[in-house]
Amino acid sequence: MADLQNLSLSTNGSILTVTINRESKLNALNTDTIAELKEVIQSVYDDKDISGVIITGAGEKAFVAGADIGEFSELNEMNARKFSEEGQEVFQLIENCHTPVIALVNGFALGGGCELAMACHMRVATANARFGQPEVNLGILPGYGGTQRLTHLIGKGRAFEYLMTGDMMDANQALSYGLVNYTEVDKEAAMAKANDLLEKISSKAPIAIGLVVDCVNAVFNQDENGYQTEANAFARCCGTDDFKEGAAAFMEKRKPEFKGE
Ligand code: COA
Repeated sequence: MADLQNLSLSTNGSILTVTINRESKLNALNTDTIAELKEVIQSVYDDKDISGVIITGAGEKAFVAGADIGEFSELNEMNARKFSEEGQEVFQLIENCHTPVIALVNGFALGGGCELAMACHMRVATANARFGQPEVNLGILPGYGGTQRLTHLIGKGRAFEYLMTGDMMDANQALSYGLVNYTEVDKEAAMAKANDLLEKISSKAPIAIGLVVDCVNAVFNQDENGYQTEANAFARCCGTDDFKEGAAAFMEKRKPEFKGE
């Protein structure tokens, strides 16, 4: 992997933490950061040694305070579609990744930051987290999937409210709306929670976990019959060695040892 300027990576066992490292700009996503994120997530697709990913922001104040406004203020009608589609592609890469990805939302998650968090499979927030899509304040709307994923996650009426007012929601509201899975008192506790979740998942059969991602995402793909996707995924799992191991372990009253085969 090329030298990363905007992200820092660390591992805890088989769990990779990706930290967006532009603290002085509240970790705003410029195009270089998006490109680095793409490279890192692509590498996760090919790395069987990584069982889970945590994405977070440097510092205590912000997860990501949006796309970099200084950079995208130059956009016009000719080049903005490409900008949007390129960002969407990276976030889809995260959403479709067979390795579970958790957003650890440690402060402001605004605009592209809220969109990035929503592209992850789960979200664990600190008590000071703030979520919002304030693009209407700038005369635009979300371009990295926010209109779609916010509606999926919190429902149409609430999504309209937040997309149209640009208001922020706090961590408790986000929890009550189902936007986040857990809120924790601070970053350390949120990190422990995210690690616990990923460690638990890493003890399950990796092929089944990856196919859960496909099946859940199929719900939101109008061109796909999710029930068919599920039946195909179920059949695929039943052909794995891990299924034989899981069933044998149950019968023998022991813990299964899955190999991802
Ligand atoms: N893009 C580029 N720079 C950003 C940014 C963004 N989305 N969000 C924050 N920054 C920068 C600020 O310009 C400032 O840089 P400076 O010190 O060089 O002037 C630095 O980060 C700190 O932000 P600041 O606004 O001073 O902090 P604050 O505590 O007063 O306010 C926010 C925090 C998050 C409320 C405020 O920064 C904000 O509204 N950011 C933009 C959010 C947004 O609209 N995001 C969606 C973009 S599509």
